[in-house]
Amino acid sequence: MKRKTVQELSAEEKMRLLCGKDFWHTDDLAGKIPQITVSDGPNGLRIVKERAADGSETAYPATAYPAISLLANTWNRAAAREMGACLADECLEKDVDILLAPGVNIKRHPLNGRNFEYFSEDPVLAGEMAKAYIEGLQGGGVGACLKHFCCNNLEYDRLNQSSEVDERTLRELYYRPFEIACEAQPVSLMCSYNRINGTLGAEYAKGFALLRKEFRFRGAIVSDWSAVRDRTASAAAGLDLEMPFNEKNYRKLCEDYARGALSDAALDACAQRVLDLVYRCKQMRQGKKAVRTAEERRAAARRIAAEGIVLLKNNGVLPLQKGRRAAISGCYARPDTCGMLRGGGSSAVNRGEETFDLPARLAERGVEVCFESAFRYDEVESFGQSARRAALHAAACDCSIVCVGLGEKFEREGADRETARLPAVQERAILASAKSSPNTVVVVFAGSYIDMSAWEEKVAAILFAGYPGTGGDGALADILVGAVNPSGKLSETFPRCLADVPAADGRGVFAGVTAYTEGLGVGYRHYSTCGVPVLFPFGHGLSYSVFVYSDLSASAEGCGLRLSFAVENTSARDGAETVQVYVRECVPLVRRPDRELKEFAKAEIGAGRRKRFSFLLGPRAFAHWSASKDGWEVSDGVYEVLVGSSAQDIRLQCKLCIKNGEILLL
Ligand code: BGC
Repeated sequence: MKRKTVQELSAEEKMRLLCGKDFWHTDDLAGKIPQITVSDGPNGLRIVKERAADGSETAYPATAYPAISLLANTWNRAAAREMGACLADECLEKDVDILLAPGVNIKRHPLNGRNFEYFSEDPVLAGEMAKAYIEGLQGGGVGACLKHFCCNNLEYDRLNQSSEVDERTLRELYYRPFEIACEAQPVSLMCSYNRINGTLGAEYAKGFALLRKEFRFRGAIVSDWSAVRDRTASAAAGLDLEMPFNEKNYRKLCEDYARGALSDAALDACAQRVLDLVYRCKQMRQGKKAVRTAEERRAAARRIAAEGIVLLKNNGVLPLQKGRRAAISGCYARPDTCGMLRGGGSSAVNRGEETFDLPARLAERGVEVCFESAFRYDEVESFGQSARRAALHAAACDCSIVCVGLGEKFEREGADRETARLPAVQERAILASAKSSPNTVVVVFAGSYIDMSAWEEKVAAILFAGYPGTGGDGALADILVGAVNPSGKLSETFPRCLADVPAADGRGVFAGVTAYTEGLGVGYRHYSTCGVPVLFPFGHGLSYSVFVYSDLSASAEGCGLRLSFAVENTSARDGAETVQVYVRECVPLVRRPDRELKEFAKAEIGAGRRKRFSFLLGPRAFAHWSASKDGWEVSDGVYEVLVGSSAQDIRLQCKLCIKNGEILLL
């Protein structure tokens, strides 16, 4: 089919291009141009089979990959790239041109109902992981749709509330992951539902111009589903494609155009970008075929889950010794609905017939298990017979593994969580086990932060299993018995309790407005600056190995800093370590967070082996956004570079001075 240009289209055809055909397709102008199909994302392919009158949808079964929050805990760009590539294979098989993923909104508030769909509280980690995911997806022939631009950091009143954020905070925190992910040139980007400083996400001309001019984004800007109020205003702002088709909006657009309220230039610009999107997607998938079998993709999902599971605490009870007897309790060990192991909403993957059975996987690995569900998913308070039996088993066995968590009833799109604590019945099950067994291991299945203050001190070990997806039971069993050495690290801080979180939510007296008064004080940036102790810091995660850092060398290279150091695995087990590089300005003239992540890398390090890491920190690593200069600025001053195993476990550091952009080691 010969490529059409926008000049060959009538005004009506252009307007049809701006509006999408139905729920999941662009308009093919009666066969004149190709049509593209889009589908959700991000942790599996959710192709909608049926849509009921109440809006609820049934999806076709697909491979469930780990939730994005768990993928982020791998801190491994290669894992993100692999997940993207696997998803591309699935999309190719099902004729999907664009996967509506990934989302990079910052985890500003631990109760945001969609945190399980997002990567991190830190923009570099979120941006880098998303970039790798996009590279994997698009390298496999399928377009990405980076979302939700911007400041959709809570679900509460998401269609109306305005996120009120100052320019510096936008630049350093909320735009930054989009900026980094745009380096992978996603074919499309989705706006957010909310307002940003009063302007609707679908009409955010200032942000759209920034994407194009500064972040060099060349794809199409797509609306979030039904986020458009006024199609003419959004087109004039630079929103190219409205999804899904909305008859009323389309008619109004035609009327507005007829009376001259929308310029030809604006209409042509959007139509051209939708045309480019269609042709780019078709070209991207030309000659591409799925390269992995379904079995290989399931294996990848399981490997990624194993890499993302975080060992938060371990007094030595893990890995389980051979021949041990384990009491397993908690209905999450053998869930009766897959909704228990996923967040709800547009990302909810239907796993079909696939089951999750941790007791069975442990038994296969030689652990003698006895299982009691102890509580039900829909239970809140009661402590019944099964819970009593579970406590007895805990006392009689060598260790007790209690499986607790959330699931789509608690974590979902469209609503925020009410509390950061687990339902009371689950906390009681943990406490009962801890009373009966000093070797209580808690496994948490959730997509975001859990307040563990009621029980953390009383248990021997804690594993944060996230929402692991297909094969997650095997991945978890491997970690419990030590066949896999845990290497996940937290991509968000676990504060001691919710009261320590500086970010306000939009509820109550602030109705309609969420004031981001904490500014840059999000996550570890706040806790480390204000000296607030946390339960588990950002970047924290234990291994069965021991890693020793040494031999830091630093030198100026061009206008950046070359940094290199060694990490040795002094244990008898192969393992993997994620090293993290933070920068702080020692006496800043403008307020700055105490430390900020600038680089990270993960590597396998064999038992007794040593590995050297090397990074080049460019000027941006030292810069802040200057509101007065309306640009990035590297202040003259003294800086420290901190190399750590977490945001609070700093192992090496060096000091330097920057004057007129020149670096001098101190
Ligand atoms: C969500 C998007 C999703 C879209 C299509 C919206 O409600 O915010 O993330 O891609 O629906 O399902």
